[in-house]
Amino acid sequence: MRKRYGNIFRTSDSIAGEVFHVADRDLVEQMFKWKPTDYNVAEPRQIMEPVVGQASLLLLDGDRHMRMRKLMLPPFHGQAIAHYAELIAQIADREINGWSPGDTVRTRTVGQAITLEVMIRAVFGVSDPGRVAELKRRLPRLSSISPVVLVMQKDLGPLSPWGSFLRNRDRVDEMLYEEIAQRRAAPGRGERDDILSLLLAARDEEGNPLTDKELRDELITILLAGHETTATSIGWAFERLLRTPPALECLTAEVKAGDSSEYMDAAIKETLRVRPVITEVFRSPTEPRELGGYLFEPGAQLAASISLLQSDPDLYAPDPLAFRPERFLEGAPEPYAWIPFGGGVRRCIGASFALLEMKIVIERILARAQLRASRAKDEKVSFRGITVLPGRGGEAIVESVA
Ligand code: HEM
Repeated sequence: MRKRYGNIFRTSDSIAGEVFHVADRDLVEQMFKWKPTDYNVAEPRQIMEPVVGQASLLLLDGDRHMRMRKLMLPPFHGQAIAHYAELIAQIADREINGWSPGDTVRTRTVGQAITLEVMIRAVFGVSDPGRVAELKRRLPRLSSISPVVLVMQKDLGPLSPWGSFLRNRDRVDEMLYEEIAQRRAAPGRGERDDILSLLLAARDEEGNPLTDKELRDELITILLAGHETTATSIGWAFERLLRTPPALECLTAEVKAGDSSEYMDAAIKETLRVRPVITEVFRSPTEPRELGGYLFEPGAQLAASISLLQSDPDLYAPDPLAFRPERFLEGAPEPYAWIPFGGGVRRCIGASFALLEMKIVIERILARAQLRASRAKDEKVSFRGITVLPGRGGEAIVESVA
Protein backbone atom coordinates (compact mmCIF):
# COMPACT_ATOMS: atom_id res chain seq x y z
CA MET A 1 0.00 0.00 0.00
CA ARG A 2 2.82 2.42 0.79
CA LYS A 3 4.58 1.60 -2.47
CA ARG A 4 1.40 2.17 -4.39
CA TYR A 5 -0.14 5.13 -2.59
CA GLY A 6 2.62 6.88 -0.68
CA ASN A 7 3.33 7.63 2.94
CA ILE A 8 -0.26 8.24 3.97
CA PHE A 9 -2.80 5.74 2.72
CA ARG A 10 -6.34 4.79 3.63
CA THR A 11 -7.93 1.42 4.37
CA SER A 12 -11.52 0.67 5.23
CA ASP A 13 -13.00 -2.55 6.57
CA SER A 14 -15.94 -3.66 8.67
CA ILE A 15 -13.88 -4.21 11.84
CA ALA A 16 -11.49 -1.24 12.05
CA GLY A 17 -13.57 1.13 9.89
CA GLU A 18 -11.71 3.85 7.99
CA VAL A 19 -8.05 4.18 8.99
CA PHE A 20 -5.39 6.55 7.62
CA HIS A 21 -1.99 4.86 7.95
CA VAL A 22 1.01 7.15 8.38
CA ALA A 23 4.29 5.60 7.27
CA ASP A 24 6.77 8.45 7.28
CA ARG A 25 9.24 9.31 10.05
CA ASP A 26 8.75 13.10 9.86
CA LEU A 27 4.98 12.81 9.92
CA VAL A 28 5.01 10.34 12.81
CA GLU A 29 7.29 12.73 14.70
CA GLN A 30 4.69 15.47 14.14
CA MET A 31 1.93 13.17 15.41
CA PHE A 32 3.88 12.22 18.53
CA LYS A 33 4.50 15.91 19.24
CA TRP A 34 0.82 16.83 19.12
CA LYS A 35 -0.35 18.31 22.41
CA PRO A 36 -2.48 16.08 24.68
CA THR A 37 -5.57 18.18 23.87
CA ASP A 38 -4.97 17.82 20.09
CA TYR A 39 -6.07 14.18 19.93
CA ASN A 40 -7.91 11.29 21.58
CA VAL A 41 -7.23 7.56 21.58
CA ALA A 42 -9.79 6.07 23.93
CA GLU A 43 -12.98 5.76 21.91
CA PRO A 44 -12.19 2.64 19.83
CA ARG A 45 -10.87 0.98 23.01
CA GLN A 46 -14.18 1.15 24.91
CA ILE A 47 -14.82 -2.49 24.03
CA MET A 48 -12.24 -3.31 26.74
CA GLU A 49 -14.23 -1.53 29.48
CA PRO A 50 -15.72 -4.71 31.02
CA VAL A 51 -12.15 -5.98 31.57
CA VAL A 52 -10.11 -2.92 32.51
CA GLY A 53 -12.84 -0.66 33.96
CA GLN A 54 -13.76 2.96 33.28
CA ALA A 55 -10.82 4.43 35.19
CA SER A 56 -8.23 2.55 33.09
CA LEU A 57 -5.40 4.69 31.74
CA LEU A 58 -6.05 3.09 28.33
CA LEU A 59 -9.62 4.43 28.28
CA LEU A 60 -8.95 8.00 29.42
CA ASP A 61 -8.26 11.07 27.29
CA GLY A 62 -7.44 14.72 27.99
CA ASP A 63 -6.95 15.99 31.56
CA ARG A 64 -8.17 12.77 33.19
CA HIS A 65 -5.58 10.82 31.23
CA MET A 66 -2.77 13.23 32.16
CA ARG A 67 -3.71 13.11 35.87
CA MET A 68 -3.69 9.31 35.92
CA ARG A 69 -0.52 9.08 33.83
CA LYS A 70 1.36 11.36 36.23
CA LEU A 71 0.28 9.17 39.14
CA MET A 72 1.35 5.98 37.38
CA LEU A 73 4.66 6.99 35.80
CA PRO A 74 7.02 7.21 38.82
CA PRO A 75 6.77 3.53 39.92
CA PHE A 76 7.76 2.45 36.38
CA HIS A 77 10.82 4.66 36.12
CA GLY A 78 14.01 2.79 35.12
CA GLN A 79 15.67 3.26 38.53
CA ALA A 80 12.50 2.42 40.46
CA ILE A 81 12.21 -1.01 38.85
CA ALA A 82 15.87 -2.11 38.78
CA HIS A 83 15.46 -4.04 42.04
CA TYR A 84 12.93 -6.41 40.40
CA ALA A 85 15.79 -8.02 38.43
CA GLU A 86 16.44 -10.61 41.14
CA LEU A 87 12.78 -11.61 41.44
CA ILE A 88 12.50 -11.96 37.65
CA ALA A 89 15.65 -14.14 37.57
CA GLN A 90 14.31 -16.39 40.36
CA ILE A 91 11.00 -16.90 38.58
CA ALA A 92 12.78 -17.56 35.25
CA ASP A 93 15.15 -20.06 36.90
CA ARG A 94 12.24 -21.97 38.41
CA GLU A 95 10.67 -22.23 34.98
CA ILE A 96 13.94 -23.47 33.40
CA ASN A 97 14.34 -26.05 36.21
CA GLY A 98 11.42 -27.93 34.65
CA TRP A 99 13.23 -28.43 31.32
CA SER A 100 15.03 -31.60 30.17
CA PRO A 101 17.16 -32.26 27.07
CA GLY A 102 14.93 -33.18 24.12
CA ASP A 103 11.94 -31.14 25.37
CA THR A 104 10.08 -28.92 22.94
CA VAL A 105 9.39 -25.53 24.52
CA ARG A 106 7.45 -22.57 23.22
CA THR A 107 9.45 -19.61 24.40
CA ARG A 108 6.40 -17.33 24.24
CA THR A 109 4.55 -19.68 26.62
CA VAL A 110 7.60 -19.73 28.89
CA GLY A 111 7.59 -15.93 28.74
CA GLN A 112 3.87 -15.87 29.59
CA ALA A 113 4.36 -17.99 32.71
CA ILE A 114 7.28 -15.84 33.88
CA THR A 115 5.78 -12.42 33.13
CA LEU A 116 2.44 -13.42 34.71
CA GLU A 117 4.11 -14.38 37.96
CA VAL A 118 6.25 -11.22 37.86
CA MET A 119 3.03 -9.19 37.49
CA ILE A 120 1.38 -10.94 40.44
CA ARG A 121 4.39 -10.57 42.74
CA ALA A 122 6.06 -7.32 41.66
CA VAL A 123 3.03 -5.32 40.51
CA PHE A 124 0.17 -6.68 42.64
CA GLY A 125 2.55 -7.49 45.51
CA VAL A 126 0.85 -10.82 46.27
CA SER A 127 3.15 -13.38 47.91
CA ASP A 128 0.85 -15.92 49.62
CA PRO A 129 1.40 -19.12 47.54
CA GLY A 130 -2.30 -20.06 47.46
CA ARG A 131 -3.31 -16.62 46.22
CA VAL A 132 -0.46 -16.51 43.68
CA ALA A 133 -1.64 -19.89 42.32
CA GLU A 134 -5.28 -18.77 42.13
CA LEU A 135 -4.37 -15.52 40.33
CA LYS A 136 -2.12 -17.44 37.91
CA ARG A 137 -5.17 -19.49 36.99
CA ARG A 138 -7.66 -16.64 36.83
CA LEU A 139 -5.82 -13.67 35.30
CA PRO A 140 -5.08 -15.21 31.87
CA ARG A 141 -8.80 -16.03 31.52
CA LEU A 142 -9.57 -12.39 32.18
CA SER A 143 -7.01 -10.90 29.81
CA SER A 144 -7.58 -13.34 26.94
CA ILE A 145 -11.35 -12.79 26.69
CA SER A 146 -12.50 -12.90 23.07
CA PRO A 147 -13.67 -9.61 21.51
CA VAL A 148 -16.74 -11.48 20.19
CA VAL A 149 -17.77 -12.36 23.75
CA LEU A 150 -17.15 -8.75 24.82
CA VAL A 151 -19.43 -7.46 22.08
CA MET A 152 -22.23 -9.99 22.64
CA GLN A 153 -22.29 -9.80 26.49
CA LYS A 154 -24.84 -12.60 26.85
CA ASP A 155 -24.94 -14.23 30.29
CA LEU A 156 -26.31 -17.73 29.69
CA GLY A 157 -25.16 -19.06 33.06
CA PRO A 158 -21.79 -19.81 34.70
CA LEU A 159 -20.68 -22.12 31.89
CA SER A 160 -21.36 -19.67 29.05
CA PRO A 161 -18.33 -17.61 27.92
CA TRP A 162 -19.72 -14.27 29.18
CA GLY A 163 -21.15 -15.82 32.37
CA SER A 164 -17.84 -17.46 33.24
CA PHE A 165 -15.98 -14.22 32.38
CA LEU A 166 -18.19 -12.25 34.80
CA ARG A 167 -17.76 -14.74 37.64
CA ASN A 168 -14.02 -14.94 37.10
CA ARG A 169 -13.72 -11.14 36.99
CA ASP A 170 -15.76 -10.79 40.20
CA ARG A 171 -13.45 -13.19 42.03
CA VAL A 172 -10.31 -11.43 40.73
CA ASP A 173 -11.78 -8.07 41.79
CA GLU A 174 -12.61 -9.46 45.22
CA MET A 175 -8.99 -10.61 45.63
CA LEU A 176 -7.58 -7.27 44.47
CA TYR A 177 -9.89 -5.27 46.76
CA GLU A 178 -8.77 -7.50 49.65
CA GLU A 179 -5.12 -6.75 48.83
CA ILE A 180 -5.87 -3.02 48.67
CA ALA A 181 -7.77 -3.10 52.00
CA GLN A 182 -4.93 -5.02 53.68
CA ARG A 183 -2.35 -2.48 52.47
CA ARG A 184 -4.46 0.46 53.61
CA ALA A 185 -4.80 -1.16 57.03
CA ALA A 186 -1.12 -2.20 57.35
CA PRO A 187 0.99 0.48 59.03
CA GLY A 188 4.28 -0.65 57.41
CA ARG A 189 3.00 -0.22 53.89
CA GLY A 190 5.48 2.53 53.07
CA GLU A 191 8.26 -0.04 53.22
CA ARG A 192 6.77 -2.34 50.62
CA ASP A 193 8.16 -1.86 47.14
CA ASP A 194 5.58 -3.50 44.89
CA ILE A 195 3.85 -1.28 42.34
CA LEU A 196 0.48 -1.47 44.13
CA SER A 197 2.03 -0.09 47.32
CA LEU A 198 3.68 2.73 45.37
CA LEU A 199 0.38 3.55 43.65
CA LEU A 200 -1.36 3.56 47.05
CA ALA A 201 1.10 6.18 48.25
CA ALA A 202 0.79 8.34 45.10
CA ARG A 203 -1.00 11.72 45.31
CA ASP A 204 -2.24 13.96 42.50
CA GLU A 205 -1.62 17.73 42.33
CA GLU A 206 -4.53 18.37 44.71
CA GLY A 207 -3.17 15.82 47.17
CA ASN A 208 -5.82 13.18 46.39
CA PRO A 209 -4.91 9.47 46.39
CA LEU A 210 -6.25 6.93 43.87
CA THR A 211 -9.59 5.40 44.86
CA ASP A 212 -9.92 1.64 45.34
CA LYS A 213 -11.74 1.37 42.00
CA GLU A 214 -9.00 3.35 40.23
CA LEU A 215 -6.33 1.13 41.79
CA ARG A 216 -8.17 -2.02 40.69
CA ASP A 217 -8.62 -0.70 37.15
CA GLU A 218 -4.96 0.30 36.80
CA LEU A 219 -3.70 -3.06 38.09
CA ILE A 220 -5.77 -4.88 35.47
CA THR A 221 -4.66 -2.33 32.85
CA ILE A 222 -1.01 -3.00 33.63
CA LEU A 223 -1.66 -6.73 33.40
CA LEU A 224 -3.47 -6.39 30.10
CA ALA A 225 -0.98 -4.00 28.52
CA GLY A 226 2.17 -5.59 29.91
CA HIS A 227 1.84 -9.34 30.17
CA GLU A 228 1.19 -10.66 26.63
CA THR A 229 3.24 -7.95 24.94
CA THR A 230 6.39 -8.74 26.90
CA ALA A 231 5.92 -12.52 26.71
CA THR A 232 5.39 -12.35 22.96
CA SER A 233 8.50 -10.21 22.51
CA ILE A 234 10.48 -12.85 24.41
CA GLY A 235 9.06 -15.46 22.01
CA TRP A 236 10.09 -13.34 19.01
CA ALA A 237 13.58 -12.79 20.43
CA PHE A 238 14.17 -16.55 20.45
CA GLU A 239 12.43 -17.07 17.12
CA ARG A 240 14.91 -14.61 15.55
CA LEU A 241 18.03 -15.51 17.56
CA LEU A 242 17.75 -19.26 16.95
CA ARG A 243 17.65 -18.57 13.19
CA THR A 244 20.59 -16.15 13.26
CA PRO A 245 23.57 -18.23 14.53
CA PRO A 246 26.18 -15.40 14.56
CA ALA A 247 23.89 -13.23 16.73
CA LEU A 248 23.03 -16.14 19.03
CA GLU A 249 26.72 -16.99 19.44
CA CYS A 250 27.70 -13.43 20.16
CA LEU A 251 24.92 -12.96 22.69
CA THR A 252 25.56 -16.28 24.43
CA ALA A 253 29.26 -15.42 24.72
CA GLU A 254 28.38 -12.06 26.27
CA VAL A 255 25.94 -13.65 28.74
CA LYS A 256 28.46 -16.32 29.76
CA ALA A 257 31.20 -13.71 30.24
CA GLY A 258 28.71 -11.82 32.44
CA ASP A 259 30.50 -8.50 32.02
CA SER A 260 28.49 -6.38 29.66
CA SER A 261 25.02 -5.97 28.27
CA GLU A 262 25.79 -4.07 25.09
CA TYR A 263 24.96 -6.83 22.65
CA MET A 264 21.93 -7.85 24.74
CA ASP A 265 20.50 -4.33 24.49
CA ALA A 266 21.13 -4.35 20.74
CA ALA A 267 19.53 -7.80 20.28
CA ILE A 268 16.42 -6.74 22.22
CA LYS A 269 16.12 -3.51 20.24
CA GLU A 270 16.56 -5.39 16.98
CA THR A 271 13.85 -7.90 17.99
CA LEU A 272 11.41 -5.09 18.78
CA ARG A 273 12.37 -3.45 15.47
CA VAL A 274 11.89 -6.39 13.09
CA ARG A 275 9.03 -8.02 15.01
CA PRO A 276 7.12 -5.29 16.88
CA VAL A 277 4.22 -6.94 18.75
CA ILE A 278 2.06 -3.85 18.22
CA THR A 279 2.23 -2.69 14.62
CA GLU A 280 0.38 0.64 14.80
CA VAL A 281 -0.71 3.25 17.36
CA PHE A 282 -3.81 5.35 16.82
CA ARG A 283 -4.48 9.07 17.19
CA SER A 284 -7.76 10.81 16.48
CA PRO A 285 -7.61 14.63 16.12
CA THR A 286 -10.01 16.71 18.24
CA GLU A 287 -9.97 19.63 15.72
CA PRO A 288 -9.48 19.68 11.92
CA ARG A 289 -5.77 18.94 11.48
CA GLU A 290 -3.30 19.10 8.61
CA LEU A 291 -0.76 16.32 8.17
CA GLY A 292 1.36 15.56 5.12
CA GLY A 293 -0.72 17.85 2.89
CA TYR A 294 -4.08 16.33 3.90
CA LEU A 295 -6.70 17.87 6.15
CA PHE A 296 -8.19 15.39 8.65
CA GLU A 297 -11.62 15.85 10.24
CA PRO A 298 -12.04 15.55 14.02
CA GLY A 299 -12.59 11.89 14.86
CA ALA A 300 -10.59 10.56 11.87
CA GLN A 301 -8.47 7.53 12.86
CA LEU A 302 -4.79 8.07 12.07
CA ALA A 303 -2.42 5.18 12.66
CA ALA A 304 1.33 5.72 13.06
CA SER A 305 2.75 2.60 11.43
CA ILE A 306 5.41 1.13 13.70
CA SER A 307 6.10 -1.79 11.37
CA LEU A 308 6.46 0.30 8.20
CA LEU A 309 8.75 2.85 9.84
CA GLN A 310 10.92 0.20 11.43
CA SER A 311 11.35 -1.62 8.12
CA ASP A 312 11.84 1.55 6.04
CA PRO A 313 14.86 1.09 3.71
CA ASP A 314 15.69 4.80 4.07
CA LEU A 315 15.99 4.43 7.85
CA TYR A 316 17.52 0.96 8.12
CA ALA A 317 19.79 0.46 5.12
CA PRO A 318 21.09 -1.93 4.03
CA ASP A 319 18.68 -4.85 4.26
CA PRO A 320 16.05 -3.44 6.62
CA LEU A 321 14.34 -6.81 7.06
CA ALA A 322 17.47 -8.65 8.27
CA PHE A 323 17.87 -9.39 12.00
CA ARG A 324 21.22 -7.78 12.68
CA PRO A 325 21.70 -6.44 16.25
CA GLU A 326 25.03 -4.90 15.18
CA ARG A 327 23.16 -2.05 13.50
CA PHE A 328 22.38 -0.65 16.97
CA LEU A 329 26.07 -0.88 17.93
CA GLU A 330 27.08 0.99 14.77
CA GLY A 331 24.92 3.97 15.70
CA ALA A 332 21.58 4.97 17.17
CA PRO A 333 18.64 5.12 14.75
CA GLU A 334 17.23 8.52 13.86
CA PRO A 335 14.79 9.92 16.44
CA TYR A 336 11.27 8.44 15.95
CA ALA A 337 12.63 5.68 13.66
CA TRP A 338 12.52 3.09 16.49
CA ILE A 339 9.07 3.30 18.10
CA PRO A 340 7.94 -0.12 19.41
CA PHE A 341 6.56 1.61 22.52
CA GLY A 342 4.77 4.40 20.63
CA GLY A 343 5.47 8.01 21.52
CA GLY A 344 4.41 11.32 23.03
CA VAL A 345 2.12 11.50 26.05
CA ARG A 346 0.66 8.08 25.28
CA ARG A 347 4.04 6.32 25.08
CA CYS A 348 4.12 2.97 26.89
CA ILE A 349 4.67 3.54 30.62
CA GLY A 350 6.02 0.00 31.02
CA ALA A 351 8.84 0.25 28.44
CA SER A 352 11.69 0.06 30.99
CA PHE A 353 9.91 -2.73 32.83
CA ALA A 354 9.44 -4.70 29.60
CA LEU A 355 13.08 -4.22 28.56
CA LEU A 356 14.26 -5.38 32.00
CA GLU A 357 12.05 -8.47 31.90
CA MET A 358 13.19 -9.36 28.38
CA LYS A 359 16.83 -8.93 29.32
CA ILE A 360 16.72 -11.06 32.47
CA VAL A 361 14.63 -13.85 30.96
CA ILE A 362 16.82 -14.11 27.82
CA GLU A 363 19.93 -13.96 30.00
CA ARG A 364 18.81 -16.79 32.31
CA ILE A 365 17.78 -19.01 29.40
CA LEU A 366 21.02 -18.49 27.47
CA ALA A 367 23.13 -18.90 30.61
CA ARG A 368 21.60 -22.28 31.40
CA ALA A 369 20.23 -23.87 28.24
CA GLN A 370 21.24 -24.58 24.71
CA LEU A 371 18.29 -24.30 22.37
CA ARG A 372 17.75 -24.86 18.68
CA ALA A 373 14.83 -23.88 16.45
CA SER A 374 12.28 -26.68 16.07
CA ARG A 375 12.36 -26.11 12.28
CA ALA A 376 14.58 -24.07 9.99
CA LYS A 377 11.82 -22.01 8.37
CA ASP A 378 10.96 -18.62 9.88
CA GLU A 379 7.82 -18.71 11.99
CA LYS A 380 4.87 -17.00 10.38
CA VAL A 381 3.72 -13.64 11.64
CA SER A 382 0.26 -14.28 13.03
CA PHE A 383 -2.26 -11.57 14.03
CA ARG A 384 -4.13 -12.07 17.31
CA GLY A 385 -6.32 -9.18 18.41
CA ILE A 386 -3.96 -6.24 18.63
CA THR A 387 -0.69 -8.16 18.97
CA VAL A 388 1.40 -9.99 16.39
CA LEU A 389 2.66 -13.42 17.43
CA PRO A 390 5.20 -15.96 16.17
CA GLY A 391 3.06 -18.66 14.51
CA ARG A 392 4.54 -21.50 16.59
CA GLY A 393 5.14 -19.44 19.71
CA GLY A 394 8.93 -19.21 19.27
CA GLU A 395 9.25 -22.99 19.36
CA ALA A 396 12.59 -24.52 20.37
CA ILE A 397 14.16 -27.86 21.23
CA VAL A 398 16.20 -28.01 24.44
CA GLU A 399 19.58 -29.55 23.54
CA SER A 400 21.08 -29.22 26.99
CA VAL A 401 20.21 -27.51 30.25
CA ALA A 402 22.19 -26.88 33.42
C1 HEM B 1 7.62 -5.45 24.89
C2 HEM B 1 6.59 -5.13 25.65
C3 HEM B 1 5.67 -3.96 25.39
C4 HEM B 1 5.38 -3.30 24.21
C5 HEM B 1 5.93 -3.61 22.82
C6 HEM B 1 4.44 -2.26 24.53
C7 HEM B 1 3.94 -1.36 23.60
C8 HEM B 1 3.03 -0.35 23.90
C9 HEM B 1 2.49 0.57 22.92
C10 HEM B 1 2.82 0.57 21.42
C11 HEM B 1 1.64 1.40 23.57
C12 HEM B 1 0.82 2.55 22.94
C13 HEM B 1 1.71 3.78 22.86
C14 HEM B 1 1.14 4.93 22.06
O1 HEM B 1 -0.08 4.99 21.80
O2 HEM B 1 1.95 5.79 21.67
C15 HEM B 1 1.65 1.02 24.98
C16 HEM B 1 0.92 1.65 25.97
C17 HEM B 1 0.90 1.24 27.28
N1 HEM B 1 1.67 0.23 27.85
FE1 HEM B 1 2.99 -0.94 26.89
N2 HEM B 1 4.18 -2.28 25.86
C18 HEM B 1 4.91 -3.29 26.44
C19 HEM B 1 4.97 -3.63 27.78
C20 HEM B 1 4.29 -2.98 28.78
C21 HEM B 1 4.43 -3.27 30.18
C22 HEM B 1 5.39 -4.29 30.78
C23 HEM B 1 3.54 -2.45 30.84
C24 HEM B 1 3.31 -2.32 32.32
C25 HEM B 1 4.06 -2.84 33.24
C26 HEM B 1 2.86 -1.65 29.84
C27 HEM B 1 1.90 -0.71 30.12
C28 HEM B 1 1.34 0.15 29.18
C29 HEM B 1 0.31 1.13 29.49
C30 HEM B 1 -0.35 1.34 30.86
C31 HEM B 1 0.04 1.83 28.30
C32 HEM B 1 -0.94 2.99 28.08
C33 HEM B 1 -0.21 4.32 28.23
C34 HEM B 1 -1.11 5.54 28.04
O3 HEM B 1 -2.15 5.41 27.39
O4 HEM B 1 -0.76 6.63 28.56
N3 HEM B 1 3.35 -2.00 28.61
N4 HEM B 1 2.52 -0.05 25.15
